[in-house]
Amino acid sequence: MANKVVISTNIAQTLTEAVEEVKHDRLFLLMDEITQELCFPVVKDIPCLGEAIPITIGATDTHKTLETLAKVWTELGNGGGTRHSLMVNLGGGMVTDLGGFAASTFKRGIKYINVPTTLLSMVDASVGGKTGINFNGLKNEIGVFNAPETVIIDTEFLKTLDQENICSGYAEMLKHGLISNNKNFAELLNFDLNEVDYLHLGQMVGTSVAIKERIVEEDPLEHGIRKALNLGHTAGHAFESWCLSRHPVLHGYAVAWGLVCELYLSCIKTGFPTEKMRQSVRFIKENYGTLSITCDDYEELYGYMTHDKKNTAGIINFTLLGDIGDIRINQTATKEEIFEALDFFRES
Ligand code: GLY
Repeated sequence: MANKVVISTNIAQTLTEAVEEVKHDRLFLLMDEITQELCFPVVKDIPCLGEAIPITIGATDTHKTLETLAKVWTELGNGGGTRHSLMVNLGGGMVTDLGGFAASTFKRGIKYINVPTTLLSMVDASVGGKTGINFNGLKNEIGVFNAPETVIIDTEFLKTLDQENICSGYAEMLKHGLISNNKNFAELLNFDLNEVDYLHLGQMVGTSVAIKERIVEEDPLEHGIRKALNLGHTAGHAFESWCLSRHPVLHGYAVAWGLVCELYLSCIKTGFPTEKMRQSVRFIKENYGTLSITCDDYEELYGYMTHDKKNTAGIINFTLLGDIGDIRINQTATKEEIFEALDFFRES
């Protein structure tokens, strides 16, 4: 699976090289309404984009739909797109996921380049070839694995983000720290999210992406070790779905809360050290707050976990840890243990 990730300090040069590397007849540039306003000005004068046909879609996850996908296919067709066309996706995870899927299916597949503009998409969504849309009330229900030609990460875009979006992406970085080593994780816990040092954050982004890249390279289709990247996501997706009909939250907040539950499960089931769990929970509590749930919500949250697409034959699948970097995939937990983890979440 192609997937070259370039950490760039010169977006004009890197994007030009990436576009020139792919022989193409037409070039399309996909953005959403927010990235068109905040990020397009950064790239619009790059000569290689001079001929690019812009396609703009609505922003946020609510537009990650079949209707938006159809709009992109239509504009690709109306713009004279052929199987030899190329698309650049400029945006956060919604744009790179939906754009990647549109490119992967238009005329049975055209090549695409991701230019992630949010921290979440830099360290997670844009890398690894998972593409898709939400469908039938379920997140990322329809999609394919198909990697972009190149992912260009320019951390200058981080300066366009608000604090919540920085925190959201940072949760995936915490996850990468937990599945890598003590040094990385300690550096992450010492970072001040209220006074962001962009230079330092940029360096940590490089480390974080490299952790994901190594895992994806080993197991691109998630048959084994790629499941490490699901740490925090079984409970996290349940929190995210639960919030959807109440007060939607950014993905990373749900993942951070999911990490609290799954580190607790790691302590009671796979021997994760309690002190490291407490340090992690303290950091999450301080930076992500908590979610107000009561025990009356447990059944609904448990229901979301039983419908998770990572499960096999209805058995809830968790990735847990024996320690930082000691990854235990394909773990399960009883309903009682999951409820106990939710008790811990409420009390912590
Ligand atoms: N976001 C997890 C993965 O790409 O596998």
